[in-house]
Amino acid sequence: MKKAVILLPFLFFLITTISSQAYIRISTEKIDLILKVSSNNRVYQSYLGSRLQHPEELQTLTRATDRDVWEAYPVSGGEDFFEPAFAIRHHDGNMTSFLYYVSHEVRQTEPGVAETIIDLADNRYPVNVRLHYVSYAKENIIKTWSEITHQEKKPVTISQYASGMLYFQANRYYLTEFSGNWAQEAQMSTQELLFGKKVIDSKLGTRAAIQANPYFQIGLDQPASLNQGKVLMGTLGWTGNFRFTFEVDNKRNLRVISGINPYASDYLLKPGEVFTTPEFIFTLSETGTGEATRNFHAWARNYQIKDGKGDRLTLLNNWEATFFDFDENKLENLMQEAAQLGVDMFLLDDGWFGNKYPRVDDRAGLSDWEVMKSKLPGGVPYLVKTAKEKGVKFGIWIEPEMVNPQSELFEKHPDWAIRLPGRETYYERSQLALDMSNPEVQDFVFGVVDNLMKENPDLAYFKWDCNSPITNIYSPYLKEKQNHLYIEHTRGVYNVFKRIKENYPHLPMMLCSSGGGRCDFEALKYFTEFWCSDNTDPVARLYIQWGFSQFIPVKAMAAHVTEQNHTASIKFRTDVAMMCKFGFDIDLNKLTGEEREFCRMAVNNYHRLKKTILDGEMYHLVSPYEGDHTSVMFTTPGKEKAVLYAYDIFPKREDSVLPVKLQGLDPAKKYKVEEINLMPGVSSNLKANNRIFSGDYLMKIGLEVFTTQRMHSRIIEITAL
Ligand code: GLA
Repeated sequence: MKKAVILLPFLFFLITTISSQAYIRISTEKIDLILKVSSNNRVYQSYLGSRLQHPEELQTLTRATDRDVWEAYPVSGGEDFFEPAFAIRHHDGNMTSFLYYVSHEVRQTEPGVAETIIDLADNRYPVNVRLHYVSYAKENIIKTWSEITHQEKKPVTISQYASGMLYFQANRYYLTEFSGNWAQEAQMSTQELLFGKKVIDSKLGTRAAIQANPYFQIGLDQPASLNQGKVLMGTLGWTGNFRFTFEVDNKRNLRVISGINPYASDYLLKPGEVFTTPEFIFTLSETGTGEATRNFHAWARNYQIKDGKGDRLTLLNNWEATFFDFDENKLENLMQEAAQLGVDMFLLDDGWFGNKYPRVDDRAGLSDWEVMKSKLPGGVPYLVKTAKEKGVKFGIWIEPEMVNPQSELFEKHPDWAIRLPGRETYYERSQLALDMSNPEVQDFVFGVVDNLMKENPDLAYFKWDCNSPITNIYSPYLKEKQNHLYIEHTRGVYNVFKRIKENYPHLPMMLCSSGGGRCDFEALKYFTEFWCSDNTDPVARLYIQWGFSQFIPVKAMAAHVTEQNHTASIKFRTDVAMMCKFGFDIDLNKLTGEEREFCRMAVNNYHRLKKTILDGEMYHLVSPYEGDHTSVMFTTPGKEKAVLYAYDIFPKREDSVLPVKLQGLDPAKKYKVEEINLMPGVSSNLKANNRIFSGDYLMKIGLEVFTTQRMHSRIIEITAL
């Protein structure tokens, strides 16, 4: 009996396949996502994979009837018994909807970018869903999101509102996730997905990450690997709570649902209001994660990250050099050091503000954005001017979405903070999140940047921090609509980010959130880079940077040379930071003369090579997860220059080391190989140093760059003749 009931819809679908209807083709140069409007007038995923070469065959795409339940945007209460993308409770209490095809259009929004918009509507209730798919031809990236609206008599409740849903059919599925903790960000681990669901989500509110990053890799048939095999890589552009659900169903299909985490967020949608989900961004590769990573990097630089194609500033930050203990004199000396080092900018960190409650540690003053007169009598203008005189730009740290209860702002506006009435307050780092759903708070937060810029038009950079998740979940502003807090808070954050970008479109800004807590592609629309981790131990950083750079171009990943892990040489620490957007956070006076000279030379090398590093194609050559060595390289698109990085972590003396085979070179070109970034007076012992090889040789035979020395590193410049 049970079987007959299940088979019925399948029979129906069999008939619809025969009279096959319109196909909607969403493609890039290498990928096809084919959706089909079936004769029941609903939209199904017909194909997702490598681009099909013969368009005439799209009409003959035959699908197994059971795959007809691959609905593009499945709604709860239908005939699909797995996790839906969308769930609604209509104003009359009915919890079922069916979405039927209304129309679709394809627009070329700019050369190489096409947008497909599909309109769906329920035929019993005035509920509309619009699916968006934007495809980037060259970068092989597709992003998708949905808009939900209705004209019912009263508000409806939406309890699931995914950005997108994708289906796969393979023999096996392997998920690589990016998880960790504070100072342990983006650690990669892989597991096989078997029947049932695996969920990766966050409930941190103010930030997407720290415990889990909003990225994933799926290996189809085999675990995702660097240079071969089919992989899907996906990420969500949402700075608040996110959720990925990976569900292997009873037919061994994999369903991937991505979107806002609906945790504590049933959303009451008013008639006429449009609920827009964040963008789910994905790519597919037939040749492993390396290619998928390069797809993401190219797309991010070309279309997503603030000033993605622009230059980046090297800097000296004072955080680890001074913590809260500084005055004008100390800062002037550091600016002098920055100038001598040759970096572009000096960045003043936390501790420059607060008068009634001076910010002498992290327990007071946060949100009182007036310069601490006792510490810095000349104010920010004097610091900007002094930096200019020394020949460096000046940047400043802020954390404007947060408040210490010991602050003038909190005394004046206790209702601006998110906190539970009538309960004991729980604090992370002695602070609370301001209620970004409140427009007055948004104005205040915008004003922090705006006031500083109006007072100091020469301010060259902001580091924007956010050091607490939302705790004590209660918004005084939203009152009885607490279920909107997580979403409205994130939207409020974006309102401010947008205003800042509109007013200061070229202002470089670093996103920071107790290290790498904010690392999603929506926030990066408004920021030129982010701080990957408070952990700057170079060994830990090799893993953290390896993880983040699977998705994020190194141009947007800030890395600084610090004093963490003294046992590593200054060269090793510098060589690790030089793989990303480079800076220093160290008291250079504590270094020897030779070490300082090395650092100056490294800055010089970086400035000379940064086009290749920051705008080049990145190749992840040897994973630190596979042993005691790791290597990456960058090549210019024309393949005339490359920079190779090789690190020995903790190898054993008796280990045998293999040559590293390079990638991304022109096999026909001849290249000069030169080890750079050596300590003063040290000459290279690399056998290949100063020799000439073909690209073919370097990619097939490779270079013997690894050693058995602990925490040893090499940077090699490779130049086409
Ligand atoms: C956070 C950041 C650090 C530093 C401190 C200042 O922890 O991640 O880089 O700016 O705040 O309080």
